This record gives sequence, C-alpha cells and structure tokens, in this order.
Amino acid sequence: MKVMIIGAGYVGLTMGVVLSATHEVTLLDVDEDKVKAINEMKSPIHEKGMSDLLTRGISEGRLRAMTPDEVLGRHDIVLICVGTPSSSDGSVDLSYVESAATMVLERANEIFSKYCVIGIKSTVPPGTTRRLVLEPLDRDGFTHRAGAAFNPEFLREGSAIEDAQKPDRIVIGASDAKASELVKRMYEECLTRNSTAFVETSLESAELCKYVSNSFLALKISFANEIANIVERIPSANFAEVMMGVGLDSRIAPSFFGAGAGYGGSCLPKDLSELIHLAQHDLSVETPILKATQRINSERPRKLVDMLLRCIPDVHGVKISVLGLAFKPETDDIRESPSLSVIEILQTLGAKVWVHDPLLNEMQLDDEFMNSVTAVDDLDICLINASGCILMTNWENYANTGLDGLTRLMKKKIFIDGRRAFVNDSMPSDVVYIAVGKHPGS
Ligand SMILES: NC(=O)c1ccc[n+]([C@@H]2O[C@H](COP(=O)([O-])OP(=O)(O)OC[C@H]3O[C@@H](n4cnc5c(N)ncnc54)[C@H](O)[C@@H]3O)[C@@H](O)[C@H]2O)c1
Repeated sequence: MKVMIIGAGYVGLTMGVVLSATHEVTLLDVDEDKVKAINEMKSPIHEKGMSDLLTRGISEGRLRAMTPDEVLGRHDIVLICVGTPSSSDGSVDLSYVESAATMVLERANEIFSKYCVIGIKSTVPPGTTRRLVLEPLDRDGFTHRAGAAFNPEFLREGSAIEDAQKPDRIVIGASDAKASELVKRMYEECLTRNSTAFVETSLESAELCKYVSNSFLALKISFANEIANIVERIPSANFAEVMMGVGLDSRIAPSFFGAGAGYGGSCLPKDLSELIHLAQHDLSVETPILKATQRINSERPRKLVDMLLRCIPDVHGVKISVLGLAFKPETDDIRESPSLSVIEILQTLGAKVWVHDPLLNEMQLDDEFMNSVTAVDDLDICLINASGCILMTNWENYANTGLDGLTRLMKKKIFIDGRRAFVNDSMPSDVVYIAVGKHPGS
C-alpha cells in the first residue's frame, strides 16, 4: 500500500518507520530541517529502535520524506499526524489539522489513488473528522472514491516503536465499512503481534476514545498520588505493597499506579484539559473527577519542593540539584515536564538551580531557560557541593549510580526522591532520604 503521513513528529515518524516495513511511506512535514534529517537517516527524535528502522526504510527505498510543496503522487491512505496543542483556555488548537486536511482535499486529484482513505491520527474532539474530512469529501463529490477515518494513536514516548509494532488494540472509527477495512488491512500487514484487537467504531466514538483513555490514565496516576499522601502518614505501611495488592485485581490492573512527581508530557495534561473544556463549554456537563485529577497533579511539584524545605527551610542562594528534565525516561521530550515546574518554584525561592539530564544535549531548551539555570551533562558537576537534590526523572543511569554515588559529592546529603527510585535500597547513614509515598520514619 502507498501511505502518506502528514506531520513527521513523534507519532508521524514512528508510524512512518513502522509502516515502511511492509508499505511504501511518504512522510510530509513543513519543517525542512526535519525532512532533510530524515532523508539523511538522522532521527530528529530520541526513540529506542528508531535509528535502525529509519535507516532500513530509507535505504531500502520504502520511506521518503518531503515538504508539501513537492510532487506528492498517489496514495491509498493519508494519515494526518500533526500537532494539536492546547489553547490558553484548555480547548484544542485544530489549526494544524485544518491546514493539513485542506491541503489534501485541495490536491485530491493528485493524491488519491483509485480509492483513498483520509485518516486523522492527531488527537481531536468528537465531530472533527466528520467536519474537516467527511463533509468536505461529500461537498466536493469525492465520496465514491474516498472515505474518512479517525484512528487514535496510543503509543508512549520512550517505547514508541514497540508500542506501534505491538499495540494492545487498534481503534478505527470510519465513515463506512470500506474505509475501515482498508485501514485495518494496512495494520494487519505489518503488525508483529497476532493478538492485537481491532475495535471498529463510529468516527466520534474513536475520537472520544483517545481522550477518555488518556484521562483515565491521568486519573490513575492522581489517584495513586493521593493514596501516596495517605501512606506517608502511616508508619509501616508500604505504598508499593498496597498498590500491588490493589492492582493485581483484574478489574483494576497495576500499571499507572506509581506515585511520584505527577504526569507530564505532550498528551495526558493536554487531553485531560481538552476533555474538561469540551464537557463544560460545548456540552454543559460538569466533570468533578477530571478536575480533581488535574488539581492533584498540579500540586505534585510544590509537594516535592516542600519535602526539601522540611530539611532546608531557606534555599535562597543555596545550590539545589535537579536530576532529570524529561517528563519520563528514554525520551528527550520536556513538554509539560513536572521537572520544569519544580525548577520554577525553586527559582522563585531564590535557589541556585543546577540541572542534569542524560539527553540534555538533544533537548529543545530555549535561551531563557538555559540562562536561568546551570544545565550540565556531567552528573558529578551537577551534584558537587549541592545542599539538596530532587530526583525528577527515573533514568536508569541514576538508579545505576545509586544513592551513595549520587550523594557522595554533595555538601549536605539531602535527597528528595520524586520517583521512588531508591525506596527499597539500604540507606547510607549520612543521607537524609525522603521519598514520595514513604513514611519518613519507615
Ligand atoms: N507524542 C505522543 O506521545 C503522542 C501519542 C499519541 C497521540 N499523540 C497525538 O498525535 C498528534 C501529534 O503529536 P506529536 O507528538 O507527534 O507532535 P509533534 O509536534 O512531535 O509533530 C507534529 C509535526 O507536524 C508537523 N506539521 C505541522 N503542520 C503541518 C502541516 N500542515 N503539514 C505537514 N506537517 C505539519 C510539524 O512540523 C511537526 O513535525 C497530537 O495530536 C498528539 O496529541 C501524540
């Protein structure tokens, strides 16, 4: 099949390299530097396994990248994977999706093969695919040779390739059975797991499915963090034991039950606020559970700083090290990372903030941020003479260095573990160790 993917970011590029195992894929992006890098087999993002698949796809001629002003050629499926950021009021900014859909429809005679499905993979509110794709297809008389689909993406950054190759389920919302069947066939031909379930739905069900899924994941994390607050007050209670005992109930499931600095990234915070906005402003439905999820999460960074302030009440002029900028390990993505909020609070309190992340040099950090902190890629330099340290990202590198190794050069060995990386380790006697979800005396 010939597949065109519009938007070569985390989702588009991942889908592109995975689908190019069995299909001919054209990646389209307005960012010329990105297009050039992809064609030179250099991945613009950090993802495990990306480099090999990108090299294979390009060198074997099944993957190419281009800008929209080039000759695009005919395709069986077009997947729109451009960004859908949040506007300041929490609603979704659909301008990138609109412009991608408009471009495809305007060049339909050039792009459509005998029958073509235009699918949206970007996360969009219910009704968007119908309005931006199906209705214009109908208006322009294309419905006999084109269908519309919404096919949400559930990959996780950090394990994007594996998630895309072996998804638990693939949800396909489509305008009709023919469109649904074509999208399903595209996946079946390149999936590496036979047990993937296909859920075929209406366009609107599929669109809502993505928001509900991410909102529930956010809810699980906030729920776990609330329970962690309770466990911290009960000597001899163990957070991990409690959540294991709860999560192994097949009605509940153990994943996303970790306590810590809260969720971040480009999806969970954005999708949750968009669902709240949609419910409240467009549908007049109150969402107290979703709002509480959001509020609990927003309190996490301050909570970690408060844990530090219990040991150092005044951090003005004091060197504090923050370990980890990415919102989770194995990614260079810092969008909505709780680490940024912790740094901002520490700066408001006058601390001298030093930051380390293993992927620091691959991150998109603006000058304002770089001028406000001391960011270093050497762990020892980040920690030497620090009076306190907050661990924000669960990088394996930190776990391997161990608490002894991380604290050995610190002036005062005060360590706040925002990811519970060392809760099960024996504590060096000279370290003050405070972790989320752990009673200080336990
Ligand atoms: N990142 C994730 O983990 C993830 C997971 C699931 C779903 N999603 C959703 O997928 C969508 C894409 O997210 P992302 O993280 O890949 O975004 P991204 O910002 O990494 O990539 C978007 C890309 O689209 C390009 N672009 C914008 N307008 C364009 C146009 N008109 N034509 C061609 N290219 C254009 C940009 O240059 C950019 O490279 C969002 O709706 C997001 O919510 C993201």
